[in-house]
Order: sequence, then structure tokens, then C-alpha cells
Amino acid sequence: MTKFSASTSTRILVTGGAGYIGAIATYILLDAGYEVVVLDDLSTGHKDSVDSRAKFIQGSILDKEVIIKALAGCEGVLHFAGKSLVGESVLKPDLYVETNVEGSRNLLDSMLVLGVKKIVFSSSASTYGEPSSIPISENSETKPTNPYGLSKLAVDDLLAERSTLDGFAACSLRYFNVAGSLKTKNGWLSESHDPETHLIPNVLKASHANPLKIFGSDWPTADGTCIRDYVHVVDLVEAHILALKNLTTPGHVVINLGSGRGYSVNEVIDTASKVLGAEITVVMAERRAGDPAVLVASIAKAKEVLGWTPLRDLESMIQDTYQASL
Ligand code: UFG
Repeated sequence: MTKFSASTSTRILVTGGAGYIGAIATYILLDAGYEVVVLDDLSTGHKDSVDSRAKFIQGSILDKEVIIKALAGCEGVLHFAGKSLVGESVLKPDLYVETNVEGSRNLLDSMLVLGVKKIVFSSSASTYGEPSSIPISENSETKPTNPYGLSKLAVDDLLAERSTLDGFAACSLRYFNVAGSLKTKNGWLSESHDPETHLIPNVLKASHANPLKIFGSDWPTADGTCIRDYVHVVDLVEAHILALKNLTTPGHVVINLGSGRGYSVNEVIDTASKVLGAEITVVMAERRAGDPAVLVASIAKAKEVLGWTPLRDLESMIQDTYQASL
């Protein structure tokens, strides 16, 4: 039995299990011996991504009736469902409050009805906003700069409150830049967003006709491009399983998930060029609104509390994503 195996046949609800990270989590949980129920409204997810061993329920976290149906017999929840585009959140802030915050509140209310008390939540580095120091620890100030980050922080606060009031055992995992893909028996599970805003898929898609836009080359960094902390989606999912196992007593814990090291946009492009064995066509563009210059996680707490260490490097994130795109 590996450290990720289920001890008995434990049933877990995965909200947003048809999305990029949720579908990979579903697959890994199933392989580890868990039973999985996926609840997803397919507003951005893909039904084809959900492994056939999971029970799939199409429905929204805004609908308590369907949540209660999905939760039957579950011992815990991995809560991925939500809106996740920074740009969209600026245009439609109410959508982010409704789906992310009210949806999470519905989920907790429904869990309480059935006595399901364990929840691992997809939070985000965007809760920190523009950091005052690097690396960012969980004690750093939270000052989101957009409605997406605000909605994630509101859920973190809600979990803290409800763990005290209602005895939930909750963990907020604050993701930095998630990348990479998983090869399954049925093919690759990978990122497929429309529109695609993330750097690695866009680097791999770049062509002479459609060059990669580098958003700013005058940032206060060594090469002038932004620095981010990329973490492989499989490492990230493994941290979720460890977090779930760690939920033994009521309370709320916040844990960063990154690799603990930063790469500039130019370094990502150079690594991709090495993987592809070809030059990437780029064009310089204006800075993108809302981008902080540098985001790098301290992952000391993940190591200490979860015993988690990310194992997969940037090259493998790019290699996997490339293979998945063929
Ligand atoms: N970038 C480009 N060109 C592109 C795409 C991205 O230069 O075509 C740059 C961005 O300006 C940024 C870096 O590459 O400097 C990474 O951008 P991503 O869009 O891949 O990721 P972000 O850092 O913007 O966003 C990620 C998550 C968000 C989360 C945020 C937290 O995707 O969900 O981190 O800060 F909110």
C-alpha cells in the first residue's frame, strides 16, 4: 500500500471533477482505491475527462438538492468547482461571489446536513495579491487584487469560521501556477481552457502566424519578465490526498502548494524550446493588467504538515503538456 492508498473503500465527492485538476484528481483517487462521485455542471469542464469508474452527477454547487444526492455515503470532499479566470472575474464580479462563495456555502450547509465534515478546498496564491516579500508564506498578508482572489479568500475565511462553529476539518490549499498533464489508460488528461490564458499551453501553441505574446519585458526581475512558481498537477493532486488523510480533527489549515522556486517567462520559453527542439516564436507585448512581478511560494508548511515534496520539474510539466497536445 502506498501513502496515497485508501485504507478501506472510502467514498469521496469531487466537485468540479470534469475540470483540468478535478479530473486528474478523480483518476488518481480511483487508482489509489477510493470510490469517487463527481459533481460538475459542465459549464467549463468536459464529461469525457471523467473516468468511467467514477459516478458522475451533472449539477451545480448552487443546487443544494443535487449536492445532497452527490454527498450520500461520502466521507470527505475535494472541492475544485468554481470559476477561475482572473480577467472574467473583473468583468463579472457577481458571478465569482455567487459561484465560488455562495456555492461553497451551499456545499458546507449540505455537508452539515449529512454529517460529512472533511473538506479540502482549491484556494489560490491570488489571495495574497502583490506580495511584499518572497517567498510567500501562509502568514503573509492577504490582499487580493481582483474579484477571483477575493472570492477564494472569502471561502478560506468561511472555512475557518465554519470549522469553529460546526466542527468541520478543513484545509485550504493555495495553488501557485499549476501545469503538466497525466497519461492515463484512456489517453492524456490535460489543460483545455477556452480561451487559454496560461503560459505553458500558449508557449506550446505558438507559431509564426500566432506568436507567443510576452506580457512585459520591463519588470523588476533579472531578465525583465515575470517570475512564477510552477507545480506539476500530479504533485498537486498527491498533496490533496495527503491533506484529506490529515483531516482528523476539527479546524482549518492553510497550505501553499508550489515548487518553492521561480522561473521567469523567458526561462519557461527556453525550457520549452529545449523540449521541442525548436525555437519558440515570440512577440513583445504590453504588461497584462493585474500581473504581479514575482510569485514564489514557501512550501515549508506543506513539507512539515503533509510530508509533501513536489517531485516533477518544469521540464516534465512542459514535456507532458506537449505529449498531451499531439
Ligand atoms: N504570460 C505571457 N504570455 C501568455 C500567458 C502568460 O507572457 O500568453 C505570462 C503572464 O504575464 C505571467 C506568466 O506568464 O507573468 C504566467 O501567466 P499564467 O496566465 O500562466 O498564470 P498566472 O500567474 O497569471 O495565474 C495563475 C493562475 C491563476 C491564479 C494566479 C495566482 O492561473 O488562477 O496564478 O496568482 F489566480
